[in-house]
Amino acid sequence: MSDIPIIWVLGGPGCGKGTQCAKIVEKYGFTHLSSGDLLRDEVSSGSDKGRELQAIMTSGALVPNQEVLSLLNNAVTRAKGNSKGFLIDGYPREKNQGIAFEEQIAPADLALYFECSEETMLKRILSRAAAAAVKRADDNEATIRSRLQTFKQNTSDILGLYADKTLTINAERDVDDIFIDVVDAIDCILKKKQKAVKAC
Ligand code: AP5
Ligand code: MG
Repeated sequence: MSDIPIIWVLGGPGCGKGTQCAKIVEKYGFTHLSSGDLLRDEVSSGSDKGRELQAIMTSGALVPNQEVLSLLNNAVTRAKGNSKGFLIDGYPREKNQGIAFEEQIAPADLALYFECSEETMLKRILSRAAAAAVKRADDNEATIRSRLQTFKQNTSDILGLYADKTLTINAERDVDDIFIDVVDAIDCILKKKQKAVKAC
């Protein structure tokens, strides 16, 4: 795994993590693993565990890390033989998640942090919900406010711990302007990885 990039994609609810990941996948062909999507897949399986997860997600709180990390670990294991790189979207959300990921899966090369005001994030999620054929259970104003609160409680610790590999990107701009900064950062990581492989 050390020859392919592992990128954490961080930022509050509705900042645009999924949107930027879709563009990265289109350009670089990386494997996109969203912790929220993996959890929603578990919920839609209708299992007892899925029902427990649904209740936590609808409250806007964090699911216990062993659940999320195990879903991510399985997904990485399944994909790693053929992957050009991993985008880990929505993880870590608190610093112990970052520590556990690096111990149990692999060190991250880069964290992209999409910085956005709460007002913008709230507006973006409400517009997504208004346009959606099937609305996410957590895309209502009360749960969004709780998700924002959960995000605020944990983020400064993560940004502090991983300052040396985090790039903060102003996510208040247009999708394509944000993506220019994303591409610069990923190209830089890919160059570093190529040099490291050649040096071996
Ligand atoms: P998750 O599914 O990750 O949700 P989230 O972090 O709240 O973020 P969203 O997916 O809602 O938004 P996004 O940043 O992807 O934005 P998007 O691109 O869609 O997590 C859900 C829940 O699962 C959590 O609350 C928690 O309970 C649980 N969970 C997940 N990970 C966990 C973990 N690690 N540990 C524990 N629990 C976990 O964009 C939003 C909208 O804005 C779209 O309509 C889009 O078109 C629009 N948009 C995007 N960019 C722009 C732009 N630049 N300008 C204008 N509009 C834009
Ligand atoms: Mg998302």
